[in-house]
Amino acid sequence: MLVIKEIRDLKALIHAQKAAGKTVGFVPTMGALHAGHRSLVEEAGKQSDFVVVSIFVNPTQFNDKTDLEKYPRTLEADVALLEPTPCQAIFAPEVSTMYPEPDTRQFNFGELERVMEGKFRPGHFNGVAQVVSKLFEMVEPDKAFFGQKDFQQLVIVKAMVKQLTLPVEIIACPIIREASGLAMSSRNERLTAAQRENAAVIYKTLCEARNNAQSISVEELKSQVVEQLNANPFLETEYFEIVDDVELKPVQQWTDPVNKVACVAVFCGEVRLIDNLVLA
Ligand code: PAJ
Repeated sequence: MLVIKEIRDLKALIHAQKAAGKTVGFVPTMGALHAGHRSLVEEAGKQSDFVVVSIFVNPTQFNDKTDLEKYPRTLEADVALLEPTPCQAIFAPEVSTMYPEPDTRQFNFGELERVMEGKFRPGHFNGVAQVVSKLFEMVEPDKAFFGQKDFQQLVIVKAMVKQLTLPVEIIACPIIREASGLAMSSRNERLTAAQRENAAVIYKTLCEARNNAQSISVEELKSQVVEQLNANPFLETEYFEIVDDVELKPVQQWTDPVNKVACVAVFCGEVRLIDNLVLA
């Protein structure tokens, strides 16, 4: 597996592929790879001739310093996980390579960044937009693959691509879960066995919410979900929202003519977990 650290080496490789008429598929990640990431790489392989995966823990998207420090860095295992996949090159730059100068760009995604993750992680999506726009400029992908696990990120990346008129198609991929239903996440590695078991309640509660939708009001359902999650001694809900899948506006009534997505952020001990489920 080719592991590239320098931008000029990456660009030379990409330009050679493009000159040979190959389409480029791109999967940006922060590493500590799991089956969720792998599913994105497999899809990229189906839809493109040449697949690049980036592994970079992006400091500008962390609003919590401890979270950045504790974020797992497992390059060797990541390379091994990607070996049997369609990934042909890994781009794993240093922070000084991605940010030789501080990135002072300020994006404006309006309401999209003022709800849910944007509200509770100020600056997070600006950092995501900074790094993803830089990576798109370096990799020049025809298609880039993102997981629905980070639903708001997906919506914001699509908005960024439109704002900057970038020639890349964003492909959304479904959430991959553990057998318990817990959405796969690099952060799951930081859970104790007991926490991990109890974290499965998040998905169960989302499924129940989907089943109960329509039978009680949106507001009642929201408070019911929060109550149910917080009743578990391992879990503390940060937010639970039901939003439409385009503008991320809170749904008021079940009759609103939009696709509804239930999104949640829950602390399990010190670890912050997010998940979501399409209700409609
Ligand atoms: P990271 O959390 O490593 O996720 C990389 C990609 O994998 C994202 O598109 C995410 O939605 C997807 N993913 C994670 N868990 C998944 C799961 N269980 N099922 C399906 N897809 C899953 O998201 C980031 O990194 C960063 O913000 C990044 C976009 C790389 C910018 O730094």
